[in-house]
Amino acid sequence: MFYYFDELGSTIDEARDEKYAHGDVVVARRQTAGRGQRGKKWSSAAGENLTFSVVLDTSFLRTGEQFLLLETVALALVDTFASYGLDARIKWTNDIYIGDRKIVGVLIDHSLGAGGMLARSGAGIGINVNQTLFDPALPNPTSMALETGHTLDCREVLERFYERLMVRFEMLRGGGREVLQRDYHSKIYRLDVPARFALPDGAEFTGTIRGVDPDGALAIETPGGVGKYLYRELSFVI
Ligand code: BTN
Repeated sequence: MFYYFDELGSTIDEARDEKYAHGDVVVARRQTAGRGQRGKKWSSAAGENLTFSVVLDTSFLRTGEQFLLLETVALALVDTFASYGLDARIKWTNDIYIGDRKIVGVLIDHSLGAGGMLARSGAGIGINVNQTLFDPALPNPTSMALETGHTLDCREVLERFYERLMVRFEMLRGGGREVLQRDYHSKIYRLDVPARFALPDGAEFTGTIRGVDPDGALAIETPGGVGKYLYRELSFVI
């Protein structure tokens, strides 16, 4: 079921409510406390974009397998953009980019079950659909309208995404993990090209992304060898 709200604090918090079941989608026209990665705020022009969370039963995944869900969601987004003629890439771990500009942010919230398993997850997704003017403080935003040259129907975008998410989710639940990993690999932003990266202490280096491990570690080759980096251990210099 799709649940539409005119205003919520954050769809992620609303989607935690046990009354929502697997496959339910909580959509807000406006979020007053939209959350982004690394404790940042997510701002989105009310009514112009999509801000929503999808509730997923992830009780078949171990706690160390969360990255597979990120891959699933990211690929469903890439599939959705492809259906609009847009060639999107996944900026590790789970930002979606068109060229060097961010078009989607994803934040996934998990609750844990027993015995080292997940229980359920809320995939919080903000897609820039029709917004064309952004806060200048945002480094590199774009939207579907800016990329396609026309405005789009947000509900239709959401429905297209939902269909594709369910296809990718069945791959995850069934025997399709290798396909997910292969497809994620083929869509990695800046794969196999020298790029600049920054470490948490601010030091920068040049390296080449060679892939992502199933646990989400990013493999970067430098003249010194291949280093593996986990979430928060590295950022891109764009
Ligand atoms: C990021 O920082 O890139 C992640 C942004 C995630 C934003 C979405 S909008 C819907 C859902 N509700 C939130 O509060 N955040 C996510």
